Amino acid sequence: ALALASVPVIMTAGVQAQGVDDTTLMEDANALFDPIPHVVPAVDDNAVTKEKIELGRMLFFDPRLSSSHLLSCNTCHNLAMGGDDNLETSIGHGWQAGPRNSPTVYNAVLNIAQFWDGRAADLREQAKGPIQAGVEMNSKPDLVVQTLQSMPEYVDHFQRAFPNVVDPVTFDNLARAIEAFEATLITPASPFDQYLEGNPNALTAQEKRGLVTFIDTGCASCHAGVNIGGQAYYPFGVIEQPGADILPLEDKGRFAVTETATDEYVFRAPTLRNVALTEPYFHAGRVWDLRQAVAVMGVSQLGEELNDQQIDDIVAFLKTLTGEMPDVEVPQLPPSTANTPRPTP
Ligand code: HEM
Ligand code: HEM
Repeated sequence: ALALASVPVIMTAGVQAQGVDDTTLMEDANALFDPIPHVVPAVDDNAVTKEKIELGRMLFFDPRLSSSHLLSCNTCHNLAMGGDDNLETSIGHGWQAGPRNSPTVYNAVLNIAQFWDGRAADLREQAKGPIQAGVEMNSKPDLVVQTLQSMPEYVDHFQRAFPNVVDPVTFDNLARAIEAFEATLITPASPFDQYLEGNPNALTAQEKRGLVTFIDTGCASCHAGVNIGGQAYYPFGVIEQPGADILPLEDKGRFAVTETATDEYVFRAPTLRNVALTEPYFHAGRVWDLRQAVAVMGVSQLGEELNDQQIDDIVAFLKTLTGEMPDVEVPQLPPSTANTPRPTP
């Protein structure tokens, strides 16, 4: 119960599951949540320009950022399938299974920090991780820079994205371009967002009931804001720790970042945006069914056995968080040259 004090109890006087009053519910919902913006959000200290977005898109799809030339960002964050890989834990270099489930890159720009344990402050810092991770892309900054420099078209793109820079092809600028592209990966106009924006018909009666239940039972105390989550850290098991089949004991989450005892098994409450597309669930990806994930949350985070009706309603509501996917054009990548380092298996 150590973190209970940090979980605010949300008062929702006036909202009732039966005969939902849209004016009140919209007001209550707007006090807790915000719609995804319709324009690309700004990121700190990195102007999101057309040229950077274009370069970032190329890099996101380029498997030559991996030592095997087989794995791109899109391998594990497939933009055609919800921005993740729909595997328990990701498969990386040499078919190694990594320790954690791949979170979606959609709307990641709106999270407070990156990774399940928040160890990267922003997308720019984040992007440098997987390229170097042995179980992911298994490369080295120097090798990546050498690879990009071997293709004149890439050098041109870096020059356009970073004008007035003498030597623009750097690992740092690669991360900036990827961050700019990722800022465009937002999914506005979900049915729930349309409801927040004032359309009472955007949700069905069941979906509204689910929203009420989501608020009243306390889900929204951890999954709120523009991303319906992604803003703060909590123990997985505030009330009751799930079994090792769902929460493997070896991954202590944020403890590895802060080395503070109270951070054992603490994870970022993830965004629930597009959650209907991103199974399996939780950091270890052991739960494939969204109904089960909701039931687990009831017991572990709220100490409550939700009944079938509540679970069905919440799931119906969660499905309204699927937004409009941005149109992402598949980039044509420059061909390798004689100077391009060859893939190593
Ligand atoms: C986490 C982007 C490559 C698997 C993330 C996150 C982002 C991201 C933004 C954090 C999302 C969040 O916390 O909400 C990228 C980019 C890549 C890349 C830009 C290319 C440079 C890969 C590859 C794999 C992978 C190739 C699989 C082999 C994962 C996993 C996590 C993650 C498992 C969660 C790790 C943890 O929390 O410790 N990635 N990714 N990523 N990505 Fe990637
Ligand atoms: C994860 C829903 C209450 C904190 C999740 C996931 C879902 C969900 C579907 C998995 C998302 C994914 O893997 O992409 C709900 C619902 C709730 C609820 C419907 C109410 C019944 C809460 C509360 C807290 C919380 C009250 C904080 C005290 C978390 C955390 C995770 C999570 C930390 C990540 C757990 C991990 O994988 O390590 N939630 N949640 N949730 N939620 Fe909730």
